[in-house]
Amino acid sequence: MPVSDPLEFSLLPLTSTVNEHGHLDIGGCDVVALAEQFGTPLFVYDEHHLHMKCQEAARAFDDGVAFASKSFLSRAMASLAASEGLCIDVASGGEMAVALAAGVSADRIVFHGNNKSLDELVYAITVKVRHIVIDSFDEIDRIERLVDAAQPTSVLLRVTPGVEAHTHEFIRTGQEDSKFGFSVASGSALQAVERLRSMPGIHLAGIHAHIGSQVFDVSSFAEAAGILAAFFIPLGLDELCVGGGLGVAYLNGERAATITEWGASVRGALRDAGVPDTVKVTAEPGRAIVAAAAITLYRVGTIKYLPGIRTYVAVDGGMSDNPRPILYGSGYEAFDPARVLAPRPDCVRLVGKHCESGDVIVPDAQVPDGIAVGDLLATPVTGAYGYSMASNYNRVTRPAVVFVRDGQARLVLRRETDEDLMALEVE
Ligand code: LLP
Repeated sequence: MPVSDPLEFSLLPLTSTVNEHGHLDIGGCDVVALAEQFGTPLFVYDEHHLHMKCQEAARAFDDGVAFASKSFLSRAMASLAASEGLCIDVASGGEMAVALAAGVSADRIVFHGNNKSLDELVYAITVKVRHIVIDSFDEIDRIERLVDAAQPTSVLLRVTPGVEAHTHEFIRTGQEDSKFGFSVASGSALQAVERLRSMPGIHLAGIHAHIGSQVFDVSSFAEAAGILAAFFIPLGLDELCVGGGLGVAYLNGERAATITEWGASVRGALRDAGVPDTVKVTAEPGRAIVAAAAITLYRVGTIKYLPGIRTYVAVDGGMSDNPRPILYGSGYEAFDPARVLAPRPDCVRLVGKHCESGDVIVPDAQVPDGIAVGDLLATPVTGAYGYSMASNYNRVTRPAVVFVRDGQARLVLRRETDEDLMALEVE
């Protein structure tokens, strides 16, 4: 496919259409108008898309399937996911506090982390989360002193099945050489099971494994499921959680498996390996639910032409709202939301406003011709690990987030202000 093709619609949120002005509409809202109303940079989430993906996850796995809130968390998102029957996977006391503030009941929260603090463990035990996912022997020592035999705390044990998922090294977690969980191969996972089973204040409900993130190849999950099954079956436990990690398409021409296909493949592999049907098979998708639900709208502020070298187009955000390109070399498309169907013959370097040369959003962005200062440019598939990894580098304030549905836009996270930045200053 020629690189100058317009953006593929499959990369846009489900309700995306082109209106009579040639502008992108999401959830019945003209995104050009949203940029005027809410300012830029702006994350625009399609609520219908979020609901559909949560429903798909709830159907693909058993009760207990959780939304991985690290991919994108706000109170609105947590309550949306919970309203579709998903549990919420939290990986810190902060994420847990937001989920609880959203009204998610504690018994629908699963608490993760390779280094949970004593305070975080006390918090999780006090509110009675659904499961604490045990990650280390030190954590077992810590939790042993906190639990109460009269009211046992439910836990899953996180294991590393020894599978090398085909993804970026930083987001690969299932291999032996990992900071997470207990190794199956070395016997430490079994040792941990025995310890937990000997503790009267603990109820070991099941086993958990997460092999990595942005995994395109569903066979990696099936392979991990086979290894997990061999470990899991003799234990006779109730739940097997296969983690998250399903990859999504970010670029024209990329295709990823659906949540339904992922669920079917994992369940099939577990069944083939002899896992009884009575076992609850759960998962924790994050990216597959939220990534393609959102786009980021930026406004072009400066353009620098370097004849014979390249053109730099700078927008009003950058690595502070999307650190993925600089962290993982992740690719994105760019498009003009006021001309969604236009071919994109010009190749430019789309950069942000931060004080470093690495602040690149798309190194070789195909854009429509004649992009000018004041135009909007958007990146699709930014709903996961964009806002949630946003920073205040250069004391740039975090963008606002709107949810759109049925022609209505609601602000779910307001734009940060300089006063917010000052809030931590003591002297
Ligand atoms: N469960 C566990 C235990 C995890 O560690 C993760 C992601 C998930 C579920 C959700 O994975 P997902 O379905 O979203 O792939 N910042 C990186 C991704 C880091 C993922 C960390 N753990 C990125 O931007 O690609």
